[in-house]
Amino acid sequence: MDYSRFAQKQMEAIRKTVGAGKAVSALSGGVDSAVCTVLAHKALGARLKVIFIDDGLMRQDEPQWVKDQFARLGIKVTIVNAARTFFAALKGKIDPEKKRKAFRDTFYKTFSRAVRQSKAQFLIQGTIAADILETKKGVKTQHNVLDQIGISAKDRYGYTTIEPLKTLYKPGVRKVGRALGMPKILYTRMPFPGPGLACRCLGEANPGRIDIVRQACKIVEEETAGYTKFQAFAVLLADRATGVTKDGRRRFGDLIAVRCVDSEDAVTATATPLGWATLMEIQKRIYAEIPSVTKVLYDLSPKPPSTIEYI
Ligand code: XMP
Repeated sequence: MDYSRFAQKQMEAIRKTVGAGKAVSALSGGVDSAVCTVLAHKALGARLKVIFIDDGLMRQDEPQWVKDQFARLGIKVTIVNAARTFFAALKGKIDPEKKRKAFRDTFYKTFSRAVRQSKAQFLIQGTIAADILETKKGVKTQHNVLDQIGISAKDRYGYTTIEPLKTLYKPGVRKVGRALGMPKILYTRMPFPGPGLACRCLGEANPGRIDIVRQACKIVEEETAGYTKFQAFAVLLADRATGVTKDGRRRFGDLIAVRCVDSEDAVTATATPLGWATLMEIQKRIYAEIPSVTKVLYDLSPKPPSTIEYI
């Protein structure tokens, strides 16, 4: 497939659909939305407004990093700080699909407000083929897929969604990024789920628990930086397990699962054979840097029967 041609065709289609109107891009910093945003920016120039919703569920320093990266490309990113709204919506929710629904509803409500303020009629969104496939198959409802779960963005939110990448899988999306001349760091990044660290925090996703998983994710990312892998992250489990302090006192603490997988397109995956020294360094740092943790586990599950994320 000629990805330059694909990109050109999508740009023409975006121009035609938006006409003299305005569009907003929902940038999360992940590969899909980054490629989509650059594509739409090349098609629409100043008629595209780029919005980054800071939901409080991002990795360490992510909002500013994304803003800086896009500033270098001449693309202005407006950050909407909505962490409190997201945490309020997630409060008390422990069921995975209820968490996903709470995230999705809050995302579109927050986003719709921003779209209305910008007076845009179109939303450019980085949905890819795997998101649609998994939602259709009922594996889970990806946050950016509305049609398949019977929600019309036009009726409910008043704008039309444009999804230029919806026929591609992840490797194809990366190739479009390369064809667009984007910096490699933006199109080779690890995928990150829409609902963010809420997918990596079983039980309630509250600010304190999200902080724990954010720190653990940072450690796992740093320690696996030398590996070729599809995704590497940490998950805070919902249970508590016994540990012991240096002076011999028993205590209950948090459990962290380390997840690192090899995959082509996220549809299937296998656990990365991390070296023992890497695993030992990860556990050592997690115990040293996150004192509430009493167990660190390495997840060996392939997809299927597992999934990559935990909700
Ligand atoms: P699972 O956990 O289903 O994940 O094996 C497959 C891939 O999709 C990412 N993922 C998401 N991406 N919105 C997204 O944009 C979501 O709601 C979502 N949930 C999972 C996940 O990180 C993996 O790369």
